[in-house]
Amino acid sequence: MNLTESELIGWGEVIGDEISSPMFVLLRGPLGAGKSVLARAIARGAGVKGVISSPTFNLFFRYSTLRGFQIVHIDLYRIAKSEELWELGWQDLGASNEIILVEWPEHAEEMLPTDRWEITLHYVEGDPNLRSVEVARVGSPLNLPGFPVSLNK
Ligand SMILES: Nc1ncnc2c1ncn2[C@@H]1O[C@H](COP(=O)(O)OP(=O)(O)OP(=O)(O)O)[C@@H](O)[C@H]1O
Ligand SMILES: [Mg+2]
Repeated sequence: MNLTESELIGWGEVIGDEISSPMFVLLRGPLGAGKSVLARAIARGAGVKGVISSPTFNLFFRYSTLRGFQIVHIDLYRIAKSEELWELGWQDLGASNEIILVEWPEHAEEMLPTDRWEITLHYVEGDPNLRSVEVARVGSPLNLPGFPVSLNK
Protein backbone atom coordinates (compact mmCIF):
# COMPACT_ATOMS: atom_id res chain seq x y z
CA MET A 1 0.00 0.00 0.00
CA ASN A 2 1.39 3.43 -0.98
CA LEU A 3 0.62 6.51 1.10
CA THR A 4 1.22 10.24 0.73
CA GLU A 5 2.74 12.08 3.67
CA SER A 6 -0.63 13.41 4.80
CA GLU A 7 -2.16 9.93 4.59
CA LEU A 8 0.72 8.53 6.62
CA ILE A 9 0.29 11.29 9.19
CA GLY A 10 -3.46 10.67 9.29
CA TRP A 11 -2.86 7.00 10.03
CA GLY A 12 -0.26 7.82 12.68
CA GLU A 13 -2.72 10.12 14.43
CA VAL A 14 -5.36 7.37 14.48
CA ILE A 15 -2.80 4.97 15.94
CA GLY A 16 -1.88 7.49 18.64
CA ASP A 17 -5.50 8.25 19.41
CA GLU A 18 -6.58 4.63 19.83
CA ILE A 19 -3.45 2.75 20.88
CA SER A 20 -3.16 0.89 24.19
CA SER A 21 -0.04 0.29 26.22
CA PRO A 22 2.24 -1.57 26.65
CA MET A 23 3.26 -1.55 23.02
CA PHE A 24 6.44 -1.78 20.98
CA VAL A 25 6.27 -0.41 17.43
CA LEU A 26 9.39 -0.79 15.31
CA LEU A 27 9.82 1.63 12.43
CA ARG A 28 11.98 0.24 9.64
CA GLY A 29 13.10 1.71 6.34
CA PRO A 30 15.95 3.72 4.82
CA LEU A 31 17.07 7.25 5.70
CA GLY A 32 14.32 9.73 4.94
CA ALA A 33 11.65 7.07 4.54
CA GLY A 34 9.30 8.76 6.99
CA LYS A 35 9.88 6.93 10.27
CA SER A 36 10.12 10.15 12.29
CA VAL A 37 7.14 11.65 10.47
CA LEU A 38 5.07 8.63 11.50
CA ALA A 39 6.42 8.57 15.08
CA ARG A 40 5.59 12.24 15.57
CA ALA A 41 2.09 11.74 14.17
CA ILE A 42 1.52 8.87 16.63
CA ALA A 43 2.70 11.09 19.50
CA ARG A 44 0.46 13.94 18.37
CA GLY A 45 -2.50 11.58 18.05
CA ALA A 46 -1.86 10.41 21.60
CA GLY A 47 -2.18 13.98 22.83
CA VAL A 48 1.45 14.98 23.26
CA LYS A 49 1.46 18.75 23.37
CA GLY A 50 4.16 21.13 22.22
CA VAL A 51 7.22 20.44 20.16
CA ILE A 52 7.89 16.86 19.21
CA SER A 53 11.53 16.64 18.30
CA SER A 54 13.19 14.41 15.80
CA PRO A 55 15.47 12.11 17.77
CA THR A 56 18.21 12.12 15.17
CA PHE A 57 20.66 14.01 17.34
CA ASN A 58 19.23 13.19 20.74
CA LEU A 59 18.26 9.62 20.42
CA PHE A 60 15.76 9.23 23.24
CA PHE A 61 12.59 11.21 23.94
CA ARG A 62 9.87 10.54 26.48
CA TYR A 63 6.53 12.33 26.42
CA SER A 64 3.56 12.12 28.75
CA THR A 65 0.13 11.96 27.19
CA LEU A 66 -3.24 13.12 28.42
CA ARG A 67 -4.39 9.49 28.46
CA GLY A 68 -1.90 8.59 31.16
CA PHE A 69 0.65 6.63 29.17
CA GLN A 70 4.01 7.71 27.92
CA ILE A 71 5.36 7.81 24.40
CA VAL A 72 9.00 6.82 24.20
CA HIS A 73 10.56 7.69 20.84
CA ILE A 74 13.99 6.21 20.25
CA ASP A 75 16.36 6.42 17.29
CA LEU A 76 19.03 3.71 17.38
CA TYR A 77 20.81 4.88 14.23
CA ARG A 78 23.94 5.84 16.12
CA ILE A 79 23.98 2.83 18.41
CA ALA A 80 26.91 0.64 17.47
CA LYS A 81 27.27 -1.74 20.41
CA SER A 82 24.90 -3.43 22.80
CA GLU A 83 26.65 -1.72 25.75
CA GLU A 84 25.29 1.57 24.42
CA LEU A 85 21.79 0.08 24.50
CA TRP A 86 22.26 -0.73 28.16
CA GLU A 87 23.43 2.82 28.84
CA LEU A 88 20.28 4.04 27.16
CA GLY A 89 18.19 1.98 29.57
CA TRP A 90 16.91 -0.30 26.82
CA GLN A 91 16.38 -3.26 29.14
CA ASP A 92 14.07 -1.23 31.39
CA LEU A 93 11.66 -0.40 28.57
CA GLY A 94 8.28 -2.07 28.20
CA ALA A 95 6.47 -0.85 31.32
CA SER A 96 2.71 -1.22 31.21
CA ASN A 97 2.22 2.52 30.60
CA GLU A 98 4.72 2.83 27.74
CA ILE A 99 4.26 3.08 23.99
CA ILE A 100 7.71 2.59 22.54
CA LEU A 101 8.48 3.73 19.00
CA VAL A 102 11.87 2.60 17.71
CA GLU A 103 13.63 3.88 14.61
CA TRP A 104 16.53 1.74 13.31
CA PRO A 105 15.63 -1.35 15.39
CA GLU A 106 18.21 -3.18 13.25
CA HIS A 107 20.74 -1.85 15.76
CA ALA A 108 19.09 -3.84 18.55
CA GLU A 109 18.02 -6.87 16.55
CA GLU A 110 19.03 -9.40 19.20
CA MET A 111 17.33 -7.45 21.99
CA LEU A 112 13.90 -6.84 20.52
CA PRO A 113 10.82 -7.78 22.53
CA THR A 114 9.00 -10.91 21.40
CA ASP A 115 5.62 -9.13 21.02
CA ARG A 116 5.68 -6.16 18.67
CA TRP A 117 4.45 -4.47 15.51
CA GLU A 118 6.87 -3.71 12.70
CA ILE A 119 6.08 -0.97 10.20
CA THR A 120 8.37 -0.77 7.18
CA LEU A 121 8.43 2.27 4.92
CA HIS A 122 10.06 2.34 1.50
CA TYR A 123 10.49 4.85 -1.30
CA VAL A 124 8.25 4.33 -4.30
CA GLU A 125 10.04 4.48 -7.62
CA GLY A 126 8.92 7.37 -9.77
CA ASP A 127 6.99 9.27 -7.08
CA PRO A 128 8.93 11.15 -4.39
CA ASN A 129 5.70 11.92 -2.52
CA LEU A 130 4.71 8.32 -1.87
CA ARG A 131 5.97 5.70 0.56
CA SER A 132 5.05 2.04 0.56
CA VAL A 133 3.92 0.80 3.95
CA GLU A 134 4.14 -2.77 5.22
CA VAL A 135 2.86 -3.85 8.59
CA ALA A 136 3.92 -7.05 10.30
CA ARG A 137 2.74 -8.47 13.60
CA VAL A 138 5.37 -10.42 15.56
CA GLY A 139 4.31 -12.50 18.56
CA SER A 140 1.12 -11.35 20.30
CA PRO A 141 1.14 -7.58 20.65
CA LEU A 142 -2.05 -5.65 21.47
CA ASN A 143 -4.00 -4.43 18.44
CA LEU A 144 -2.51 -1.79 16.19
CA PRO A 145 -5.35 0.70 15.59
CA GLY A 146 -6.31 1.83 12.13
CA PHE A 147 -4.97 -1.25 10.42
CA PRO A 148 -5.86 -2.05 7.75
CA VAL A 149 -5.54 1.65 7.10
CA SER A 150 -8.81 3.45 6.61
CA LEU A 151 -8.01 6.62 4.75
CA ASN A 152 -11.44 8.18 5.12
CA LYS A 153 -11.12 8.76 8.81
N1 LIG B 1 4.58 9.80 1.71
C1 LIG B 1 5.48 10.30 2.58
N2 LIG B 1 5.50 9.86 3.85
C2 LIG B 1 6.40 10.34 4.75
N3 LIG B 1 7.33 11.28 4.47
C3 LIG B 1 7.35 11.76 3.21
C4 LIG B 1 6.44 11.30 2.23
N4 LIG B 1 6.71 11.95 1.09
C5 LIG B 1 7.72 12.76 1.36
N5 LIG B 1 8.12 12.67 2.61
C6 LIG B 1 9.25 13.40 3.22
O1 LIG B 1 10.24 12.46 3.57
C7 LIG B 1 10.92 12.90 4.73
C8 LIG B 1 10.85 11.84 5.82
O2 LIG B 1 11.71 12.22 6.84
P1 LIG B 1 11.85 11.46 8.23
O3 LIG B 1 12.73 12.29 9.07
O4 LIG B 1 10.50 11.10 8.75
O5 LIG B 1 12.61 10.13 7.77
P2 LIG B 1 13.22 8.99 8.70
O6 LIG B 1 12.75 7.71 8.12
O7 LIG B 1 12.91 9.27 10.11
O8 LIG B 1 14.77 9.14 8.42
P3 LIG B 1 16.01 8.84 9.38
O9 LIG B 1 16.39 7.40 9.12
O10 LIG B 1 17.05 9.77 8.90
O11 LIG B 1 15.60 9.07 10.80
C9 LIG B 1 10.28 14.20 5.19
O12 LIG B 1 11.04 15.26 4.68
C10 LIG B 1 8.91 14.14 4.51
O13 LIG B 1 8.44 15.44 4.22
MG1 LIG C 1 14.08 9.62 11.79
